[in-house]
Amino acid sequence: MFKGNFEFLNFWQIRSVPLIGIDISSSAVKMVELSRNGDRFCVDRYAIELLPREAVLDGNINDFEAVSECVGRVWKKLGTRNKNVAMALPAAAVITKKIIVPAGQSEEDLGFLVETEANQYIPFALDEVNLDFQVIGPAPGNPEEVEVLIAASRKEKVEDRVATAEASGLTAIVMDVEPYASQTAFELIQKQLPNGGRDRTIAIVDIGASLMSINVLRNGQSVYMRDQPFGGNQLTYDIQHFYNLTLDEAETAKRKGGLPDNYEIEILRPFRENLALEVSRAMQFFFTSTPFNEVHHIVLAGGCATIQGLDDTVSNRTQVSTSIANPFAGMELSSRINPRQLATDAPMLLIACGLSLRGFDPT
Ligand SMILES: Nc1ncnc2c1ncn2[C@@H]1O[C@H](COP(=O)(O)OP(=O)(O)OP(=O)(O)O)[C@@H](O)[C@H]1O
Ligand SMILES: [Mg+2]
Repeated sequence: MFKGNFEFLNFWQIRSVPLIGIDISSSAVKMVELSRNGDRFCVDRYAIELLPREAVLDGNINDFEAVSECVGRVWKKLGTRNKNVAMALPAAAVITKKIIVPAGQSEEDLGFLVETEANQYIPFALDEVNLDFQVIGPAPGNPEEVEVLIAASRKEKVEDRVATAEASGLTAIVMDVEPYASQTAFELIQKQLPNGGRDRTIAIVDIGASLMSINVLRNGQSVYMRDQPFGGNQLTYDIQHFYNLTLDEAETAKRKGGLPDNYEIEILRPFRENLALEVSRAMQFFFTSTPFNEVHHIVLAGGCATIQGLDDTVSNRTQVSTSIANPFAGMELSSRINPRQLATDAPMLLIACGLSLRGFDPT
C-alpha cells in the first residue's frame, strides 16, 4: 500500500472484516451491519437515531458532543460486538479527479505519480490533506494506459468523523465518499434490472433532509454528480406553519403519521409535485451540462423516497421509469429485523448499506 508524506485515507481499500456502515447525515446517525453467507448477504442489524438539529451542518460535524453521543447510542442499540466501522465523507468535502497514466506501474510508483498530480490541482498543502487513489481500469481507447481516480479531502474533515466513532471505542477502518457508498449498494440492486442495467443511463436521486444528491451512472461508473439544497426539511417547515406546530412536533407527525385529513391535499401533494419538478429540472441540468440526452431509469433514495406515490409523481413529470431504492432486496434478514419497518427505512439506508458492504471482497 502506498504511503506518502500524508496520511492515507483508505477510501477504497478492501478489507475482509465485517464492518458496520455508519452514515452520519444532517438528520440522523444510521448504522447497518451485514454478514455474508456464501454469495448471499444477510442484514444482521440496523439502527437509526435522530440527531439534534444543526449538530451536522452542510456535511460538517458542528456539535461534536451531540454527534459522538448519538453514534454511541446507535451502536448500543445495534447490540453488536463488532467495533470496526466504515464511514463516509459528503461529496462536497472531497475533491475527486480522474487521471490517465501508463499501465503496469507498481503501487508505489503510482502513488508517487498521484502525489505529483494532486499537487497541481488541490488548493491546500499536501500535508493538510488525506489522499487516496484507485485504478478504475484500462483507459478508453488505449490498453497501454489506465484510468486512476484520485480523491483528496482536508485532514480535519476526516479526523472529525473518525473522532466521533473513536469516542465510543469504535475503530474507523474505511473512509469512503457518500455517493460512492450508495453506488456500491446500488450495484447489488442493479443486477436485478433487465440486462443488468447494461448500457443504460441510471440516475440515483437521494433526497434527504437538506440535500438532493444526484449521481448518474452508466455501466457502473459515475458520469455526473451534483448536490442541490432541497429536501424533506421543506416539508417539515410546511407542516409546522400550516398546523402551527413546533419543528420537532412537525417532524414526528411527518414520520409517524397522525396529521389531519387535509394533510394529503393541502401539504403533501404540492410538496410531491414540487419535488418531482426539482428532479425534472435536475435531469434537464444534467442534459445541458453533459453529452447525454436521455436517462433510462431513476432510482429514488433518502428519507423523502418513503413518501407514498413519489415514484409515480416523478415518473409522470419526467417521463422516465422510476423506482424506490431497496438496497436489501434479495438479502436474507436476521430474525431480529422487522421486515415491514425495514421496508420503510430501506431507502434511507443506501449509504450505510454500501459502507457495510465494504467489509467484503467484491462479488
Ligand atoms: N415516512 C416519511 N414520510 C415523509 N418524510 C419522511 C419519512 N421518513 C423520513 N422522512 C424525511 O426524510 C428526511 C430524512 O431522510 P434521510 O435520512 O435520507 O436524510 P439525511 O440523510 O439525514 O439528510 P441529508 O442527506 O440531506 O443530510 C427527513 O426530512 C425526514 O423528515
Ligand atoms: Mg443523506
